Amino acid sequence: MTDLTGVVTGAGSGLGRAAAEHLLALGARVACWDRNGDTLAWTEADPGALSTTVDVTDPGQVSAAAADLRRRWGRADFVVNSAGVFLVGPLAEVDPVAVRRLFDVNVVGTTLVTQALLPDLIATRGAVVNLSSTVALRASRSNAHYAASKAAIAQLTRCWALELAGHGVRVNAVAPGPTGTGIYAAAGMPQSQVDELLTARAREIPLGRIGDPAEIARWIGRLLADDWVTGHVIPVDGGLSIA
Ligand SMILES: NC(=O)c1ccc[n+]([C@@H]2O[C@H](COP(=O)([O-])OP(=O)(O)OC[C@H]3O[C@@H](n4cnc5c(N)ncnc54)[C@H](O)[C@@H]3O)[C@@H](O)[C@H]2O)c1
Repeated sequence: MTDLTGVVTGAGSGLGRAAAEHLLALGARVACWDRNGDTLAWTEADPGALSTTVDVTDPGQVSAAAADLRRRWGRADFVVNSAGVFLVGPLAEVDPVAVRRLFDVNVVGTTLVTQALLPDLIATRGAVVNLSSTVALRASRSNAHYAASKAAIAQLTRCWALELAGHGVRVNAVAPGPTGTGIYAAAGMPQSQVDELLTARAREIPLGRIGDPAEIARWIGRLLADDWVTGHVIPVDGGLSIA
């Protein structure tokens, strides 16, 4: 990844931060975007990181951040779309405002960021990695709308891969299984409920445990580095999707 330059969204926490740290360790320069600027303080220690407070649902903020990256570094070879939110709750209770917000961040945000950097990706014959989820690949009871947003990401990944292959731009996704990050607390779940959920999920996972952010980050790095894989959604989930 030496000499490569790109963006990781949601880099303030969880899988986005793990991906950004991994890519920086491999020698890339990484623009770390997050709507919560305070969470990007970790980037100050790394000269290869450029931290920017960006809400990925705001087209003006996204295009300003893309223009800033272009001005400073002159190129973008990759985009990792990790900014995302979770929503739990049965159909009878789900709040339509929360559903709109979920799709705005997970689906529209991924679109706005990839669109803003598309000219750069075409110029560099670059690569995109999106964050789908195991719940996009198998039905679950308690988070239908979140699962639908992640299924949308899986299908956008395949469609964009086909659309952009002629430009040499590759588009893949990872579909992580349950991984201990801040996403559940950010959705308003109390810690006891998060622990209960992750313990229950761990029992369903053939390899017997939840994921570690670094394991997901390594696959993101592989998908960015490989030259002849596009349009794939790779489960990184301890076997959950085949159980
Ligand atoms: N943790 C899991 O178990 C898991 C499993 C499968 C997929 N995923 C996906 O991985 C991605 C990362 O999730 P995570 O677990 O690291 O969550 P996280 O909550 O730890 O991190 C998400 C980050 O995205 C940022 N963010 C949220 N909305 C934003 C916006 N509008 N603009 C900019 N930044 C925004 C948050 O501030 C946060 O720093 C998400 O897309 C999620 O759906 C997570």
